Amino acid sequence: MKFMVINGPNLDMLGIREVNIYGGDTYANLIEMITSYAEEKNVSIVPFQSNIEGEIVNAIHSAYFDGFDGIIINPAAYTHYSIAILDAIKAVNLPCVEVHISNINSRDEFRKISYTSQGCIGIIAGFGFFGYKMALDALLNHIQKNS
Ligand code: DQA
Repeated sequence: MKFMVINGPNLDMLGIREVNIYGGDTYANLIEMITSYAEEKNVSIVPFQSNIEGEIVNAIHSAYFDGFDGIIINPAAYTHYSIAILDAIKAVNLPCVEVHISNINSRDEFRKISYTSQGCIGIIAGFGFFGYKMALDALLNHIQKNS
């Protein structure tokens, strides 16, 4: 099985941006962690990061056309206002888990709204990078239950 791990804007700046919120580990560290966790689970992941909304929409479409089994997505700021990304998630109808490194419910009011999670099977927030491992477990559990 293969899963696409999509990260949105400014997540390439992990380790530099707001380290008090997102921690000191980098995007490369994140991909290393989730790749080795996927190996343990005998599945593969393909990482994708973009700061551009349309590129994220295109990546979601290609997950469908390239036969991916599911998507882990941290749409970052787009979470809170991108109907285009929500529509793309709904269009491909692949199981999708939304992850946030921080707890979006304990921060600014505007972060409490997630448009994109309305197309996802669930949402994990506030557990740091570990949330991506939880998302992979959740996807595998979901696929097993529904096959
Ligand atoms: C984030 C939370 C978003 O509100 C923010 O815009 C991000 C990162 C997180 O992972 O905690 O860029 O998605």
